[in-house]
Amino acid sequence: MASRGNFSSKLGFILAAAGSAVGLGNIWKFPFEAADGGGAAFVLIYLVFAFILCFPVMVTEIAIGRKTQKNPVGAYKALGFKQWQFLGILGICSGVLILSFYNIVAGWAIGYFLEMIQGNFEIGNNFSTYTAQIWKVGLYGALFMAITAFTVSKGISGGIERAAKFLMPSLLLMIIGLTFYAMSLPNASAGIAYYLVPEFSEVTFEVVYNALGQAFFSLSLGMGALITYGSYVSKNDNIINSAAWITVTDVGIAFLAGLMMFPFVSYLTNGTMENFTGGPGLIFATLPGVFRSLGETLGIIVGSTFFLLLSFAALTSTVSLLEVPVTYVVDELKISRKRTVWIVAGLIFLLGVPSLLSNGYSGFFTNFVTYFGAISPTSFMTLIEHIGNDTFLPLGGFLITIFAAYVWKKNNLIEELVQGNEQFRNSWVRKHIDFTVSYLCPLMLGFIFILTFLDRFFGISVF
Ligand code: PFF
Repeated sequence: MASRGNFSSKLGFILAAAGSAVGLGNIWKFPFEAADGGGAAFVLIYLVFAFILCFPVMVTEIAIGRKTQKNPVGAYKALGFKQWQFLGILGICSGVLILSFYNIVAGWAIGYFLEMIQGNFEIGNNFSTYTAQIWKVGLYGALFMAITAFTVSKGISGGIERAAKFLMPSLLLMIIGLTFYAMSLPNASAGIAYYLVPEFSEVTFEVVYNALGQAFFSLSLGMGALITYGSYVSKNDNIINSAAWITVTDVGIAFLAGLMMFPFVSYLTNGTMENFTGGPGLIFATLPGVFRSLGETLGIIVGSTFFLLLSFAALTSTVSLLEVPVTYVVDELKISRKRTVWIVAGLIFLLGVPSLLSNGYSGFFTNFVTYFGAISPTSFMTLIEHIGNDTFLPLGGFLITIFAAYVWKKNNLIEELVQGNEQFRNSWVRKHIDFTVSYLCPLMLGFIFILTFLDRFFGISVF
Protein backbone atom coordinates (compact mmCIF):
# COMPACT_ATOMS: atom_id res chain seq x y z
CA MET A 1 0.00 0.00 0.00
CA ALA A 2 1.22 3.46 -0.83
CA SER A 3 2.37 5.49 2.15
CA ARG A 4 -0.20 7.90 3.55
CA GLY A 5 2.49 10.49 4.22
CA ASN A 6 3.39 12.25 7.46
CA PHE A 7 4.17 15.62 8.91
CA SER A 8 7.92 15.95 8.56
CA SER A 9 8.37 17.60 11.95
CA LYS A 10 6.63 18.52 15.15
CA LEU A 11 6.76 22.18 14.16
CA GLY A 12 5.14 21.34 10.84
CA PHE A 13 2.25 19.66 12.62
CA ILE A 14 1.85 22.51 15.12
CA LEU A 15 1.76 25.10 12.33
CA ALA A 16 -0.73 23.11 10.26
CA ALA A 17 -3.04 22.46 13.21
CA ALA A 18 -2.73 26.03 14.46
CA GLY A 19 -3.51 27.07 10.89
CA SER A 20 -6.69 25.02 11.02
CA ALA A 21 -7.63 26.70 14.27
CA VAL A 22 -6.79 30.26 13.27
CA GLY A 23 -9.42 31.20 10.73
CA LEU A 24 -12.23 33.54 9.86
CA GLY A 25 -13.68 32.86 13.31
CA ASN A 26 -10.69 34.46 15.04
CA ILE A 27 -10.73 37.61 13.01
CA TRP A 28 -14.36 38.62 12.93
CA LYS A 29 -16.15 36.62 15.56
CA PHE A 30 -13.92 36.67 18.58
CA PRO A 31 -13.30 40.45 18.86
CA PHE A 32 -16.96 41.21 18.41
CA GLU A 33 -18.13 38.64 20.93
CA ALA A 34 -15.57 39.90 23.42
CA ALA A 35 -16.66 43.53 23.05
CA ASP A 36 -20.28 42.52 23.38
CA GLY A 37 -19.82 40.11 26.21
CA GLY A 38 -18.05 42.13 28.86
CA GLY A 39 -14.61 42.82 27.34
CA ALA A 40 -11.78 41.39 29.42
CA ALA A 41 -14.33 39.41 31.43
CA PHE A 42 -15.24 37.57 28.23
CA VAL A 43 -11.59 37.05 27.35
CA LEU A 44 -11.04 35.49 30.75
CA ILE A 45 -13.99 33.11 30.41
CA TYR A 46 -12.83 32.25 26.91
CA LEU A 47 -9.33 31.43 28.16
CA VAL A 48 -10.72 29.20 30.88
CA PHE A 49 -12.86 27.30 28.35
CA ALA A 50 -10.05 27.01 25.83
CA PHE A 51 -7.60 25.53 28.33
CA ILE A 52 -9.86 23.69 30.76
CA LEU A 53 -12.47 22.26 28.42
CA CYS A 54 -11.29 22.41 24.84
CA PHE A 55 -7.67 21.45 25.39
CA PRO A 56 -8.59 17.94 26.68
CA VAL A 57 -10.85 17.39 23.66
CA MET A 58 -7.99 18.46 21.41
CA VAL A 59 -5.50 16.02 22.90
CA THR A 60 -8.13 13.26 22.75
CA GLU A 61 -8.69 13.81 19.04
CA ILE A 62 -4.97 13.92 18.26
CA ALA A 63 -4.38 10.79 20.34
CA ILE A 64 -7.11 8.81 18.56
CA GLY A 65 -5.67 9.86 15.20
CA ARG A 66 -2.09 9.06 16.07
CA LYS A 67 -2.91 5.75 17.71
CA THR A 68 -4.80 4.44 14.69
CA GLN A 69 -3.15 6.38 11.86
CA LYS A 70 -6.55 6.45 10.23
CA ASN A 71 -9.25 8.85 9.11
CA PRO A 72 -12.07 9.57 11.61
CA VAL A 73 -14.26 6.72 10.35
CA GLY A 74 -11.49 4.13 10.04
CA ALA A 75 -10.11 5.15 13.45
CA TYR A 76 -13.09 3.80 15.39
CA LYS A 77 -12.97 0.59 13.43
CA ALA A 78 -9.22 0.23 13.98
CA LEU A 79 -9.75 0.56 17.73
CA GLY A 80 -12.23 -2.31 17.51
CA PHE A 81 -15.48 -0.35 17.76
CA LYS A 82 -17.10 -0.65 14.39
CA GLN A 83 -20.44 0.56 15.66
CA TRP A 84 -18.84 3.95 16.46
CA GLN A 85 -18.00 4.63 12.83
CA PHE A 86 -21.15 6.76 12.63
CA LEU A 87 -19.30 9.34 14.71
CA GLY A 88 -16.62 9.60 12.05
CA ILE A 89 -19.31 9.99 9.42
CA LEU A 90 -20.93 12.75 11.46
CA GLY A 91 -17.54 14.49 11.53
CA ILE A 92 -17.07 14.19 7.80
CA CYS A 93 -20.57 15.59 7.22
CA SER A 94 -19.73 18.54 9.51
CA GLY A 95 -16.53 19.21 7.59
CA VAL A 96 -18.27 19.06 4.23
CA LEU A 97 -21.11 21.33 5.36
CA ILE A 98 -18.80 23.87 7.00
CA LEU A 99 -16.44 23.99 4.02
CA SER A 100 -19.35 24.51 1.61
CA PHE A 101 -20.14 27.95 3.06
CA TYR A 102 -16.81 28.84 4.67
CA ASN A 103 -15.25 28.74 1.23
CA ILE A 104 -17.71 31.35 -0.02
CA VAL A 105 -16.73 33.81 2.68
CA ALA A 106 -13.09 33.03 1.93
CA GLY A 107 -13.88 33.89 -1.71
CA TRP A 108 -15.21 37.28 -0.57
CA ALA A 109 -11.91 37.83 1.24
CA ILE A 110 -9.87 37.16 -1.90
CA GLY A 111 -12.26 39.32 -3.93
CA TYR A 112 -11.87 42.20 -1.49
CA PHE A 113 -8.09 41.80 -1.56
CA LEU A 114 -8.20 42.30 -5.33
CA GLU A 115 -10.49 45.33 -4.95
CA MET A 116 -8.24 46.88 -2.28
CA ILE A 117 -5.15 46.58 -4.45
CA GLN A 118 -6.99 48.67 -7.01
CA GLY A 119 -7.99 51.20 -4.37
CA ASN A 120 -11.69 50.44 -4.69
CA PHE A 121 -12.74 51.30 -1.12
CA GLU A 122 -16.30 52.06 -2.23
CA ILE A 123 -16.92 48.36 -2.26
CA GLY A 124 -17.68 48.54 1.47
CA ASN A 125 -20.76 50.70 0.85
CA ASN A 126 -22.15 48.05 -1.43
CA PHE A 127 -21.44 44.87 0.46
CA SER A 128 -24.87 43.37 -0.14
CA THR A 129 -24.75 44.29 -3.82
CA TYR A 130 -21.31 42.72 -3.96
CA THR A 131 -22.41 39.36 -2.54
CA ALA A 132 -25.34 39.27 -4.97
CA GLN A 133 -22.98 39.53 -7.99
CA ILE A 134 -23.23 35.87 -8.44
CA TRP A 135 -20.72 35.27 -11.23
CA LYS A 136 -18.03 37.34 -9.62
CA VAL A 137 -18.31 35.88 -6.13
CA GLY A 138 -18.86 32.44 -7.62
CA LEU A 139 -15.62 32.76 -9.52
CA TYR A 140 -13.69 33.87 -6.44
CA GLY A 141 -15.25 30.99 -4.49
CA ALA A 142 -14.15 28.58 -7.21
CA LEU A 143 -10.68 30.12 -7.19
CA PHE A 144 -10.41 29.72 -3.42
CA MET A 145 -11.56 26.12 -3.57
CA ALA A 146 -9.05 25.45 -6.33
CA ILE A 147 -6.17 26.89 -4.25
CA THR A 148 -7.33 24.77 -1.30
CA ALA A 149 -7.55 21.66 -3.49
CA PHE A 150 -4.15 22.32 -5.06
CA THR A 151 -2.55 22.55 -1.61
CA VAL A 152 -4.22 19.37 -0.35
CA SER A 153 -3.39 17.50 -3.55
CA LYS A 154 0.32 17.93 -2.80
CA GLY A 155 -0.03 15.76 0.30
CA ILE A 156 0.69 16.24 3.97
CA SER A 157 4.31 17.35 4.13
CA GLY A 158 4.59 18.62 0.54
CA GLY A 159 1.26 20.48 0.55
CA ILE A 160 -0.41 21.21 3.87
CA GLU A 161 2.72 21.47 5.99
CA ARG A 162 4.64 23.42 3.41
CA ALA A 163 1.81 25.91 2.95
CA ALA A 164 1.39 26.32 6.71
CA LYS A 165 5.11 27.01 7.12
CA PHE A 166 4.79 29.94 4.77
CA LEU A 167 1.26 31.13 5.60
CA MET A 168 1.38 31.10 9.40
CA PRO A 169 4.53 33.19 9.93
CA SER A 170 3.33 35.60 7.22
CA LEU A 171 -0.03 35.87 8.94
CA LEU A 172 1.62 36.55 12.26
CA LEU A 173 3.82 39.26 10.78
CA MET A 174 0.87 40.92 9.06
CA ILE A 175 -1.34 40.90 12.13
CA ILE A 176 1.41 42.26 14.37
CA GLY A 177 2.22 44.97 11.84
CA LEU A 178 -1.43 45.96 11.43
CA THR A 179 -2.01 45.92 15.20
CA PHE A 180 0.89 48.30 15.84
CA TYR A 181 -0.28 50.53 13.06
CA ALA A 182 -3.91 50.53 14.25
CA MET A 183 -2.83 51.30 17.80
CA SER A 184 -0.90 54.33 16.61
CA LEU A 185 -4.00 55.91 15.04
CA PRO A 186 -5.91 58.72 16.79
CA ASN A 187 -8.58 57.49 19.24
CA ALA A 188 -7.04 54.03 19.41
CA SER A 189 -7.35 53.93 23.18
CA ALA A 190 -11.12 54.43 23.04
CA GLY A 191 -11.32 51.39 20.77
CA ILE A 192 -9.21 49.30 23.09
CA ALA A 193 -11.30 50.39 26.05
CA TYR A 194 -14.44 49.39 24.15
CA TYR A 195 -12.89 45.99 23.51
CA LEU A 196 -11.33 45.24 26.85
CA VAL A 197 -12.65 47.21 29.82
CA PRO A 198 -14.22 44.46 31.91
CA GLU A 199 -17.97 44.71 32.41
CA PHE A 200 -18.92 41.87 34.65
CA SER A 201 -22.56 42.91 34.53
CA GLU A 202 -22.63 42.04 30.81
CA VAL A 203 -21.65 38.45 31.49
CA THR A 204 -24.97 36.68 31.10
CA PHE A 205 -25.60 33.00 30.65
CA GLU A 206 -25.78 33.59 26.90
CA VAL A 207 -22.34 35.20 26.89
CA VAL A 208 -20.84 32.21 28.68
CA TYR A 209 -22.55 29.89 26.23
CA ASN A 210 -21.22 31.92 23.29
CA ALA A 211 -17.70 31.84 24.72
CA LEU A 212 -17.70 28.06 24.87
CA GLY A 213 -19.20 27.68 21.38
CA GLN A 214 -16.68 30.11 19.95
CA ALA A 215 -13.70 28.45 21.68
CA PHE A 216 -14.79 25.05 20.40
CA PHE A 217 -15.28 26.19 16.80
CA SER A 218 -12.13 28.25 16.86
CA LEU A 219 -10.02 25.30 17.96
CA SER A 220 -11.46 23.17 15.10
CA LEU A 221 -12.84 20.57 17.48
CA GLY A 222 -15.69 18.09 17.28
CA MET A 223 -15.44 16.94 13.69
CA GLY A 224 -12.29 14.90 13.56
CA ALA A 225 -10.08 17.48 11.85
CA LEU A 226 -7.53 16.79 14.56
CA ILE A 227 -8.06 13.02 14.39
CA THR A 228 -7.14 13.41 10.73
CA TYR A 229 -4.09 15.63 11.33
CA GLY A 230 -3.16 13.47 14.34
CA SER A 231 -3.03 10.42 12.09
CA TYR A 232 -0.01 11.94 10.36
CA VAL A 233 1.92 12.74 13.57
CA SER A 234 5.06 10.90 14.62
CA LYS A 235 4.92 8.50 17.57
CA ASN A 236 7.82 10.39 19.15
CA ASP A 237 6.02 13.70 19.34
CA ASN A 238 4.73 15.06 22.60
CA ILE A 239 1.00 15.55 21.98
CA ILE A 240 0.35 17.57 25.14
CA ASN A 241 3.04 20.03 24.27
CA SER A 242 1.92 20.36 20.63
CA ALA A 243 -1.70 20.89 21.68
CA ALA A 244 -0.62 23.58 24.13
CA TRP A 245 1.16 25.45 21.33
CA ILE A 246 -1.85 25.13 19.04
CA THR A 247 -4.18 26.50 21.72
CA VAL A 248 -1.89 29.37 22.67
CA THR A 249 -1.44 30.38 19.03
CA ASP A 250 -5.15 30.32 18.35
CA VAL A 251 -6.12 32.28 21.44
CA GLY A 252 -3.22 34.71 20.94
CA ILE A 253 -4.19 35.54 17.37
CA ALA A 254 -7.85 35.99 18.27
CA PHE A 255 -6.80 38.42 21.00
CA LEU A 256 -4.51 40.33 18.64
CA ALA A 257 -7.33 40.55 16.08
CA GLY A 258 -9.32 42.58 18.60
CA LEU A 259 -6.37 44.86 19.32
CA MET A 260 -6.18 45.52 15.58
CA MET A 261 -9.87 45.83 14.80
CA PHE A 262 -11.20 48.16 17.47
CA PRO A 263 -8.64 50.94 17.09
CA PHE A 264 -9.52 50.94 13.38
CA VAL A 265 -13.22 51.31 14.09
CA SER A 266 -12.54 53.87 16.79
CA TYR A 267 -10.47 55.91 14.37
CA LEU A 268 -13.31 55.92 11.85
CA THR A 269 -15.94 56.90 14.42
CA ASN A 270 -13.78 59.47 16.24
CA GLY A 271 -13.76 57.33 19.34
CA THR A 272 -17.55 57.04 19.62
CA MET A 273 -17.80 53.48 18.26
CA GLU A 274 -21.24 54.42 16.98
CA ASN A 275 -23.27 52.40 14.48
CA PHE A 276 -20.82 49.64 14.48
CA THR A 277 -21.92 46.07 13.84
CA GLY A 278 -20.14 42.76 14.18
CA GLY A 279 -20.05 39.78 11.87
CA PRO A 280 -19.36 40.01 8.15
CA GLY A 281 -20.58 43.62 8.11
CA LEU A 282 -17.69 44.69 10.32
CA ILE A 283 -15.12 43.21 7.99
CA PHE A 284 -16.67 43.76 4.62
CA ALA A 285 -18.64 46.97 5.09
CA THR A 286 -17.02 48.98 7.92
CA LEU A 287 -13.32 48.30 7.44
CA PRO A 288 -13.09 49.44 3.79
CA GLY A 289 -14.37 52.80 5.08
CA VAL A 290 -11.49 52.87 7.56
CA PHE A 291 -8.99 52.11 4.81
CA ARG A 292 -10.42 54.85 2.59
CA SER A 293 -10.00 57.35 5.38
CA LEU A 294 -6.26 56.60 5.54
CA GLY A 295 -5.76 58.12 2.08
CA GLU A 296 -5.04 56.41 -1.23
CA THR A 297 -1.56 54.92 -0.76
CA LEU A 298 -1.76 53.96 2.88
CA GLY A 299 -5.32 52.73 2.37
CA ILE A 300 -4.22 50.41 -0.40
CA ILE A 301 -1.31 49.05 1.63
CA VAL A 302 -3.25 48.56 4.87
CA GLY A 303 -6.46 47.39 3.17
CA SER A 304 -4.84 44.83 0.92
CA THR A 305 -2.65 43.55 3.78
CA PHE A 306 -5.76 43.08 5.89
CA PHE A 307 -7.65 41.08 3.27
CA LEU A 308 -4.56 39.06 2.42
CA LEU A 309 -4.27 38.23 6.11
CA LEU A 310 -7.91 37.17 6.15
CA SER A 311 -7.41 35.00 3.06
CA PHE A 312 -4.33 33.32 4.58
CA ALA A 313 -6.21 32.62 7.80
CA ALA A 314 -9.09 31.13 5.82
CA LEU A 315 -6.84 29.02 3.59
CA THR A 316 -5.10 27.10 6.37
CA SER A 317 -8.60 26.32 7.71
CA THR A 318 -10.22 25.31 4.41
CA VAL A 319 -7.27 23.02 3.79
CA SER A 320 -7.97 21.16 7.04
CA LEU A 321 -11.69 21.01 6.31
CA LEU A 322 -11.02 19.43 2.93
CA GLU A 323 -8.40 17.04 4.29
CA VAL A 324 -11.00 15.29 6.49
CA PRO A 325 -13.16 13.82 3.68
CA VAL A 326 -10.09 13.38 1.48
CA THR A 327 -8.23 11.25 4.03
CA TYR A 328 -11.39 9.20 4.46
CA VAL A 329 -11.76 8.46 0.76
CA VAL A 330 -8.04 7.82 0.23
CA ASP A 331 -7.86 5.46 3.26
CA GLU A 332 -11.07 3.58 2.72
CA LEU A 333 -11.57 3.50 -1.02
CA LYS A 334 -7.88 3.47 -1.92
CA ILE A 335 -8.32 6.06 -4.66
CA SER A 336 -5.32 8.25 -5.41
CA ARG A 337 -5.05 11.47 -3.41
CA LYS A 338 -4.89 13.75 -6.44
CA ARG A 339 -7.99 12.40 -8.04
CA THR A 340 -9.89 12.28 -4.74
CA VAL A 341 -9.03 15.88 -3.89
CA TRP A 342 -10.36 17.38 -7.10
CA ILE A 343 -13.54 15.31 -7.10
CA VAL A 344 -14.33 15.99 -3.43
CA ALA A 345 -13.50 19.70 -3.72
CA GLY A 346 -15.70 19.96 -6.83
CA LEU A 347 -18.64 18.31 -5.09
CA ILE A 348 -18.31 20.50 -2.01
CA PHE A 349 -18.17 23.56 -4.21
CA LEU A 350 -21.43 22.49 -5.86
CA LEU A 351 -22.99 21.90 -2.47
CA GLY A 352 -22.02 25.49 -1.66
CA VAL A 353 -23.88 26.95 -4.65
CA PRO A 354 -27.22 27.35 -2.80
CA SER A 355 -25.30 29.16 -0.03
CA LEU A 356 -23.73 31.36 -2.67
CA LEU A 357 -27.19 32.20 -3.94
CA SER A 358 -28.56 32.84 -0.48
CA ASN A 359 -26.90 36.23 -0.01
CA GLY A 360 -29.42 38.29 -1.91
CA TYR A 361 -29.32 36.82 -5.39
CA SER A 362 -32.09 34.24 -5.04
CA GLY A 363 -35.13 35.03 -2.93
CA PHE A 364 -35.80 31.34 -2.56
CA PHE A 365 -32.43 30.56 -0.94
CA THR A 366 -32.17 33.89 0.88
CA ASN A 367 -35.46 33.26 2.70
CA PHE A 368 -35.14 29.51 2.72
CA VAL A 369 -36.87 28.25 5.88
CA THR A 370 -38.78 29.67 8.77
CA TYR A 371 -38.07 27.74 11.95
CA PHE A 372 -40.83 26.87 14.37
CA GLY A 373 -41.70 29.92 16.37
CA ALA A 374 -39.47 32.25 14.32
CA ILE A 375 -40.76 35.45 12.77
CA SER A 376 -38.36 35.90 9.89
CA PRO A 377 -36.95 33.25 7.56
CA THR A 378 -33.41 31.91 7.66
CA SER A 379 -31.19 31.72 4.59
CA PHE A 380 -29.87 28.45 3.23
CA MET A 381 -26.33 29.45 4.21
CA THR A 382 -27.33 30.19 7.80
CA LEU A 383 -29.23 26.91 7.97
CA ILE A 384 -26.11 25.02 6.94
CA GLU A 385 -24.12 26.96 9.54
CA HIS A 386 -26.66 26.07 12.22
CA ILE A 387 -26.45 22.39 11.32
CA GLY A 388 -22.71 22.06 10.57
CA ASN A 389 -21.13 24.39 13.15
CA ASP A 390 -23.61 25.00 15.84
CA THR A 391 -25.20 21.58 16.23
CA PHE A 392 -22.89 18.90 14.82
CA LEU A 393 -19.67 20.18 16.40
CA PRO A 394 -20.81 20.12 20.06
CA LEU A 395 -22.60 16.83 19.41
CA GLY A 396 -19.40 15.41 17.92
CA GLY A 397 -17.33 16.70 20.85
CA PHE A 398 -19.77 15.24 23.35
CA LEU A 399 -19.67 11.81 21.69
CA ILE A 400 -15.88 11.82 21.20
CA THR A 401 -15.28 12.36 24.93
CA ILE A 402 -17.89 9.71 25.84
CA PHE A 403 -16.16 7.36 23.45
CA ALA A 404 -12.67 8.05 24.78
CA ALA A 405 -13.59 7.84 28.45
CA TYR A 406 -16.06 4.98 28.52
CA VAL A 407 -15.71 2.91 25.36
CA TRP A 408 -12.06 3.05 24.35
CA LYS A 409 -11.29 3.67 28.05
CA LYS A 410 -9.20 6.33 29.70
CA ASN A 411 -6.15 4.14 30.26
CA ASN A 412 -5.71 3.66 26.56
CA LEU A 413 -5.98 7.38 25.99
CA ILE A 414 -3.42 8.05 28.71
CA GLU A 415 -1.04 5.41 27.29
CA GLU A 416 -1.15 7.10 23.88
CA LEU A 417 -0.44 10.46 25.48
CA VAL A 418 2.50 9.00 27.40
CA GLN A 419 4.14 8.03 24.07
CA GLY A 420 6.74 10.70 23.48
CA ASN A 421 6.05 12.24 26.91
CA GLU A 422 6.93 9.89 29.78
CA GLN A 423 6.57 12.63 32.41
CA PHE A 424 2.90 12.96 31.59
CA ARG A 425 2.09 9.72 33.41
CA ASN A 426 2.42 11.26 36.85
CA SER A 427 1.68 14.88 36.10
CA TRP A 428 -1.20 17.12 37.19
CA VAL A 429 -2.11 17.60 33.52
CA ARG A 430 -2.89 13.90 33.40
CA LYS A 431 -5.24 14.23 36.36
CA HIS A 432 -6.88 17.20 34.74
CA ILE A 433 -7.42 15.41 31.44
CA ASP A 434 -8.63 12.32 33.21
CA PHE A 435 -11.28 14.29 35.04
CA THR A 436 -12.40 16.62 32.27
CA VAL A 437 -12.66 13.99 29.55
CA SER A 438 -14.70 11.73 31.83
CA TYR A 439 -17.05 14.24 33.39
CA LEU A 440 -16.75 17.91 32.59
CA CYS A 441 -16.50 17.77 28.78
CA PRO A 442 -19.40 15.35 28.16
CA LEU A 443 -21.56 17.29 30.56
CA MET A 444 -20.86 20.74 29.19
CA LEU A 445 -20.80 19.75 25.52
CA GLY A 446 -23.97 17.70 25.83
CA PHE A 447 -25.61 20.67 27.48
CA ILE A 448 -24.46 23.05 24.76
CA PHE A 449 -25.70 20.68 22.09
CA ILE A 450 -29.19 20.45 23.58
CA LEU A 451 -29.49 24.19 24.17
CA THR A 452 -28.34 25.00 20.65
CA PHE A 453 -30.57 22.46 19.03
CA LEU A 454 -33.65 23.75 20.82
CA ASP A 455 -32.72 27.37 20.25
CA ARG A 456 -31.85 27.18 16.55
CA PHE A 457 -34.56 24.90 15.27
CA PHE A 458 -37.44 25.16 17.69
CA GLY A 459 -37.17 28.73 18.90
CA ILE A 460 -37.05 27.44 22.48
CA SER A 461 -34.53 29.68 24.13
CA VAL A 462 -33.33 29.71 27.69
CA PHE A 463 -31.58 33.03 27.20
N1 PFF B 1 -11.22 27.11 13.37
C1 PFF B 1 -11.71 27.71 12.17
C2 PFF B 1 -12.04 29.18 12.46
O1 PFF B 1 -11.97 29.61 13.61
O2 PFF B 1 -12.39 29.90 11.53
C3 PFF B 1 -12.89 27.00 11.57
C4 PFF B 1 -12.75 25.51 11.49
C5 PFF B 1 -11.74 24.95 10.71
C6 PFF B 1 -13.60 24.70 12.21
C7 PFF B 1 -11.58 23.57 10.68
C8 PFF B 1 -13.46 23.32 12.18
C9 PFF B 1 -12.43 22.77 11.40
F1 PFF B 1 -12.27 21.48 11.38
